[in-house]
Amino acid sequence: MPPETRVYADAEELAAQAAASILGLIRSALETGPQAVVVLSGGTTPAECYRLLARLITEAELPLDRMVWAFGDERWVPAGHPDSNEGMARRTLLDPIRAPDRTILSWQAGSGDPVERAASYAEKLHPLRPGVALQGLGADGHTASLYPGAVALLPDGQRVPVSVDLPGDSAAVWLPSESRWRLTLGPAYLNRARTTVFLVSGAAKRASLARVLEGDLAVPGSWIRGQNTLFLVTRDTLGRDTPDFPKDVRFA
Ligand code: 6PG
Repeated sequence: MPPETRVYADAEELAAQAAASILGLIRSALETGPQAVVVLSGGTTPAECYRLLARLITEAELPLDRMVWAFGDERWVPAGHPDSNEGMARRTLLDPIRAPDRTILSWQAGSGDPVERAASYAEKLHPLRPGVALQGLGADGHTASLYPGAVALLPDGQRVPVSVDLPGDSAAVWLPSESRWRLTLGPAYLNRARTTVFLVSGAAKRASLARVLEGDLAVPGSWIRGQNTLFLVTRDTLGRDTPDFPKDVRFA
């Protein structure tokens, strides 16, 4: 199915509507299968959505033991570090809903060997098809830690450019701009998602979102498409000449 784009007035409305949409997708996964596997994105955009989603999940009394929480990517820091994506998700969502620790798949980043950590994460996750996979988008078009022009180290020791054909489910990526490793799921795993949900907000993302919506494969965000793909965006991410959309416009 072609991606669907929903445009919201601002970050606050995006967070509220995204939380409601994600809850619906989790419910649907629980109704149609033994468990709901949710791949969470990192960065700053999803934090408010996660806080609201935590309230909705608690009110809905979802069966937490039938859920699995994974992370699309992680910085090379322990979960307690302020930069950790897992740490952000635990503070805003997983701790408030009291997700059982056995349901949270940690990259265990920050110690040991990054390539080995990426390989063992993929091994744990491979048997699990994601019901919902959340993706952010960087101004440079990256999503998860699939950065344009970056080099990925694979479990077999190969060094390959990050690309849409990245072999395997995960990789360790050296990020020169941060002088730090990143661990990331790749298109092979992420594209198994029943529904991919991009959350994009802020005028800084305008150019990269336009290229992703066009399917420009020079931009990693274009590599990620689930069985269904939703772009939940704020109006300021669309072109200056974009007409004033009424709230929650849905157009394919
Ligand atoms: C990360 C994320 C990354 C993020 C984008 C957007 O580790 O930073 O996984 O892919 O989603 O960089 O980040 P913001 O939401 O902070 O703009």
